[in-house]
Amino acid sequence: MSRGKVLVTGVTGLIGFRVLVDVLEAGYAARAVVRSTKRFETQARHPLLRHFIADGRLECTDIPDFSALNAWDDALEGITFIMHIAWPLLLPTLDPEIDIYEPAVRGSDSLLEAALKTPTLKRIIFTSSIMATMPYTNREGESYGPESHVRALDEDIKENCNLGVSVPMQYNDAVPIARKHFPEAFERGLLLPGEQPSEAVVWNASATEAMLDMKFKGFEEMVVDVVSQYLELLSAETLA
Ligand SMILES: NC(=O)c1ccc[n+]([C@@H]2O[C@H](COP(=O)([O-])OP(=O)(O)OC[C@H]3O[C@@H](n4cnc5c(N)ncnc54)[C@H](OP(=O)(O)O)[C@@H]3O)[C@@H](O)[C@H]2O)c1
Repeated sequence: MSRGKVLVTGVTGLIGFRVLVDVLEAGYAARAVVRSTKRFETQARHPLLRHFIADGRLECTDIPDFSALNAWDDALEGITFIMHIAWPLLLPTLDPEIDIYEPAVRGSDSLLEAALKTPTLKRIIFTSSIMATMPYTNREGESYGPESHVRALDEDIKENCNLGVSVPMQYNDAVPIARKHFPEAFERGLLLPGEQPSEAVVWNASATEAMLDMKFKGFEEMVVDVVSQYLELLSAETLA
């Protein structure tokens, strides 16, 4: 039996897609909200998702402008939880005021107004970056645990609080880790060492780990995951 229906935004993005998969695998039904259903077509065909669409546990709806008046009313019907993960990310090509802050603030306002009119709703989770909680100069180092979103739906988790997910790391540390685990890929020239200078983020996530009763993956494990996936895709591409 379904544990309730979760509205998930940002599913065409990196974090939202993974969270959507985790939500469904954890036994919830989901409604994915996208700006255009056309943009969701590739994800909908993904092996991790397509059977959830076939069995009716995943549906998709579009809201072209998240900040439009009453934009969310229909999308929130029958929803138990909201995971708002869609945010415009800072890109040098975007105007900070017009393309980032305004849509983020107005879109969230509009969502929250609709949430107040949704009697079935129990909890809202907003995703942000821990960078939002610290001085801009102290950047880099955040990591992410999509599964922490799912855990945060449980009723025993405190409401109205910030849950920060992070492990210590520097991007350049990825190179020796990759060398240690994939020496052959370096020898064959499939992996090349590079430089990505970064500063360490000082964020203690142990309180979040204790609250969610989870242990976040370390940087080494993440690097191995990402490089394995890259090499797998590269090999599939070569064979194709
Ligand atoms: N990636 C990370 O390592 C990381 C780490 C820590 C925290 N986070 C946080 O996680 C959240 C999502 O990040 P991400 O990396 O998944 O970003 P992403 O891959 O760039 O995806 C952004 C998502 O937001 C949607 N979006 C962007 N602008 C929008 C707008 N104006 N109106 C409606 N939807 C919009 C995009 O939809 P379209 O396809 O329609 O453009 C896409 O689904 C952000 O709050 C970010 O700060 C990410």
